[in-house]
Amino acid sequence: MATYAVNMIVYILMFLSIITKDVGGSAICWTKTDPEHIRIALRPTGVTISWTTCGYWDFWNLINDTPTPQVAYGTDPKVCDKLSSYNFTTSYNPYPIVKRFFHNVYLDNLDAGTKYYYKIQETEKCVRASSILSFTTAPLIINCELQPINISIVGDLGLNTYFNNYEAEQTIIAMKKYISISNFFMHIGDISYADLYGAIVNFDFYEDTWNRFQKAIEPITSIMPYQVLPGNHEATCLQLSDKVCPQHLKNFTAYNNRFHMSGELSGGYKNMWYSYDYGQAHIVMINTETDFKDAPSGPGTTLNAGNFLGIDSQLAWFEQDLIEANKPENRAERPWIIVAGHRPMFGSTSKAQVQIAGYPIIAPSDNCAACRDAFLPILCKYGVDFFMAGHVHWMELLYPLDCNGDVVANHFNNVDGVIHVTNGAGAAPTGAETVDTADMYRRAFFFGGYGFQQLEIKNCTHATLHFIDSSTKQIINSTDVVRSRSANNI
Ligand SMILES: [Fe+2]
Repeated sequence: MATYAVNMIVYILMFLSIITKDVGGSAICWTKTDPEHIRIALRPTGVTISWTTCGYWDFWNLINDTPTPQVAYGTDPKVCDKLSSYNFTTSYNPYPIVKRFFHNVYLDNLDAGTKYYYKIQETEKCVRASSILSFTTAPLIINCELQPINISIVGDLGLNTYFNNYEAEQTIIAMKKYISISNFFMHIGDISYADLYGAIVNFDFYEDTWNRFQKAIEPITSIMPYQVLPGNHEATCLQLSDKVCPQHLKNFTAYNNRFHMSGELSGGYKNMWYSYDYGQAHIVMINTETDFKDAPSGPGTTLNAGNFLGIDSQLAWFEQDLIEANKPENRAERPWIIVAGHRPMFGSTSKAQVQIAGYPIIAPSDNCAACRDAFLPILCKYGVDFFMAGHVHWMELLYPLDCNGDVVANHFNNVDGVIHVTNGAGAAPTGAETVDTADMYRRAFFFGGYGFQQLEIKNCTHATLHFIDSSTKQIINSTDVVRSRSANNI
């Protein structure tokens, strides 16, 4: 019945497309629309600006309404006198009603620490120009005592959905409150949770949930970089199994079209794994879902995703990336090395209670042993400072850990070891997870509510981790981390 209704709508739209004519062409636009879901991602010397449009009907076909995506930009809002360079458009859903076009342009060779204004250009058909927006580029590193940066980090978020998720809305409101003291955002997997609704009505709710999520976070993504990495909820259109999903909604396809990270520029792969520099930090985004041995969302698993480049390429790239970041001249300039991936390696969870449509169930929410086997030896070997994870729906800060997962010291003042943070408290539709007290000796801080974190890098030796409660919008914990960068503490 639902399929019949959708098909009827398609026929009506096609009929209207025949009887209505747009000025200057045979195609129609009901009205000119705004570019949607405007989003920014980092490039080595600039940014990618991306946005989404709906296309237009030309008799039986849905046509790309933005054949030449372009952005005008400059440092004066009245004179956006430069034009973006390279551009491209992608699309993945063949069904016209839900099909979208994803446009991307590059702004390169920008000055450091500079505020730029930009405007997405009007197209000949159907798409209005955007308003004039702005963003600020990464600060120039002059010396280690200057240019502090703040990275806001959220995981496992979603948004208000058909089954209601009021808490995610509160987290997004809290995130907006911290825009003015953030340089950029990282979303460490489980982004829109569209896959909880994928099987309903011709897969339309899957795309619709993605659209509504990207609209909800546009006030953030349109004015500062929003760096993403893959979680299990990005893998396919239905979390329970990929078998009912059409091919074009499997294997992280929506995720890799709806965002555009600069994977290949760092030797990585699409939005799946890549690295970038920002201020005094080198940041590596890894894929804990596929492309390594026994990966939890890999081929043959329920989500049956990857391997994109086999099971060895990501790890080989990861080690080579850290070798390069650890060269003395590079580590002197960017001493903080942050690795982020969706699934935690350690934490005091062995099982968790989550909710499906309001009903509590016990779900395996284990720390990822396969991730630990694959990535931990490399994390340890190259003196990584932080491992930022999500997936488990709480916030937990662990004391610095050695390569065996043992606590190095019960403080953060000039000790070795990787500092693991689990930050999956964005407010996933499946609810907060209950506390398992079986394994708490590593725990330095815990919060069982909803929120996100902010990593404040003050200089080359001092940083502070802040944890923010979505309900009050207040910082509920700040933990200082000191690394003098001598001896073993690289
Ligand atoms: Fe997850």
